[in-house]
Amino acid sequence: MRRKIVAGNWKMNNDLPRTQGLITDLKNAKKTSDAEVMIAPAYVNLYHAFEELRESDIEVIAQNMHFAENGAYTGEVSADMLKSVGISTVILGHSERRAYYNETDADLAKKVDMALSKKMEVVFCFGEELKDRQAGNHEAVVKSQIKNALFHLDADALKHIILAYEPVWAIGTGETATPEQAQEMHKAIRKMIADKYGDDTADNISILYGGSVKPNNAQEIFSNPDVDGGLIGGASLKADDFFAIVNAI
Ligand code: G3P
Repeated sequence: MRRKIVAGNWKMNNDLPRTQGLITDLKNAKKTSDAEVMIAPAYVNLYHAFEELRESDIEVIAQNMHFAENGAYTGEVSADMLKSVGISTVILGHSERRAYYNETDADLAKKVDMALSKKMEVVFCFGEELKDRQAGNHEAVVKSQIKNALFHLDADALKHIILAYEPVWAIGTGETATPEQAQEMHKAIRKMIADKYGDDTADNISILYGGSVKPNNAQEIFSNPDVDGGLIGGASLKADDFFAIVNAI
């Protein structure tokens, strides 16, 4: 049975007081679905969030990490540092990191390897830009991102990967992929995994959708057979909205 997951990517939002306020609201929210729930605060708030949610069923995850074990990388955070504050899952390859910090598929392959070497789970993000979709290249772009960063892994390693398809043109724009567009891409991704690793691996890997998921569209997106949950940005910053999405699965 594939895991159903809804993860909130808080991005660069919420100082410590606001983090505490949102965590209090999240603790009071009622989960009525079987979705696993994750939240990704900023680095500086991870330990506080972990401690506050230690007894809850909300997992605290990181938004990024460096590929090196340690060393002269000013401003960066390592896998061991994340694990030392209770974090065992990390988002990698978000389009904002690819765009603003020029993260390449090769960089991400190294980050994935480091995370897996530390027995962490990875939420691996990928997605096409509007120009790719308009040119009909969206599947080729997505397949290339997955192949270049993940296809050096064996089937066992893939058990620790959660895929997150986030069409760049839908992120933060209010322009959500239609349920048909989401299902078409998720089905193509699952077939790509099946062709490489076999049906068992493909049937068991969770593929999340991200890109303007809101309480009013979550149910129709999540009702697709190859959509296993969501990676939520803006709507994860209010507990009511976030749990309306969690409970839509
Ligand atoms: O990582 C999730 C994020 O990229 C989606 O953002 O605001 O469109 O839900 P948003």
